[in-house]
Amino acid sequence: MAKKVLVTGANGFTGSYLCKHLVEKGYHVRGLVRRSSKLDALKGIDIEPAYADLADASNANALEDAMKGVDIVYHVAATYRTEGVPRKYFWQVNVEGTRHLLEAANRANVARFVHCSTVGVQGEIKNPPATEDAPFAPGDVYQESKLEGEKLARRFFEEKKLSGTVVRPVGIYGPGDTRFLKLFRFIHNGKFRMLGSGKVLYHLTFVEDLVAGIALAGEKPNIEGEVFTIGGKEYLPLSALVEKIARVMNVPVPRKSFPVWPVWCAGLACEILCRPFGIEPPLYRRRVDFFIKDRAFDITKARTKLGFEPKVDLETGLCRTAEWYKAQGMLN
Ligand SMILES: NC(=O)c1ccc[n+]([C@@H]2O[C@H](COP(=O)([O-])OP(=O)(O)OC[C@H]3O[C@@H](n4cnc5c(N)ncnc54)[C@H](OP(=O)(O)O)[C@@H]3O)[C@@H](O)[C@H]2O)c1
Repeated sequence: MAKKVLVTGANGFTGSYLCKHLVEKGYHVRGLVRRSSKLDALKGIDIEPAYADLADASNANALEDAMKGVDIVYHVAATYRTEGVPRKYFWQVNVEGTRHLLEAANRANVARFVHCSTVGVQGEIKNPPATEDAPFAPGDVYQESKLEGEKLARRFFEEKKLSGTVVRPVGIYGPGDTRFLKLFRFIHNGKFRMLGSGKVLYHLTFVEDLVAGIALAGEKPNIEGEVFTIGGKEYLPLSALVEKIARVMNVPVPRKSFPVWPVWCAGLACEILCRPFGIEPPLYRRRVDFFIKDRAFDITKARTKLGFEPKVDLETGLCRTAEWYKAQGMLN
């Protein structure tokens, strides 16, 4: 009989690719979504839906049902680019939601729990490329809440309440993503301006490669309690990434730049002014961080212990992503 897996955040960008990958590998996939979730990304993928809001503690029964017969849990759901919500909402989903899920998995005796964290828990990398042991330095509320969620999961694994692993993806891109859309669109429209020198290092992972790595973290024996950074083959200076994106879209390479700090201060002012009204700031500091923090990672551990090997080179991945944005009419 096919092994049964539960994927949280099944309808999200990464979650939907993971569901497809696991179905193709022959698993019976149960996808945890909310009643309010948009399910477009799951069209044509043969999964069994389960419904629960991870932030809602009264959902214990729903989580119990979702865990029935499950061998592996892939916990991918998180609140991520949500602006205009109170800080505590990040905690409700990324920490308390993770706790509810870990407890339900523990009660259901699942064989393996894979917790999806982020390299953002290490924030700015002082000596790139960073290994999994580089110090924690979360730089914003999202990263702080992801770090708390990761620590919680690792405590469960250390205390042998569950057999589990942690994966930390670098920036995820590919068809279906909207996080990098603005970058592509601004480059496409000739409106992109570099903040600062463009020398900071950036590291991406193509979503299909990433989910293959996440799947392995649920399958490989003898890796209990381990943490794995999952990234693409190469990292590169931001200016080189911008140039590659311009070239795959066949548009002029942007050359103009602005100094960082005036924009950072404007981001801070926007956040302060918008917060009381619960509206999304037009500019915020996390966006500026993209231009000033080195993020380059060593993926040797995932390669050696998981057998992870990224297959999609950066040019091909950027090209496929740009084509998808174009086909959706998103670039204008
Ligand atoms: N994107 C990146 O570059 C990146 C980099 C490093 C790590 N990560 C991590 O990778 C994972 C996937 O990221 P992504 O970019 O693919 O995210 P995404 O597309 O925003 O998907 C997030 C998923 O979480 C679900 N979710 C949010 N709040 C929930 C709640 N209260 N209860 C149940 N489900 C909830 C969402 O459901 P709804 O549709 O109902 O909101 C959605 O399915 C996350 O853990 C993120 O922290 C992302």
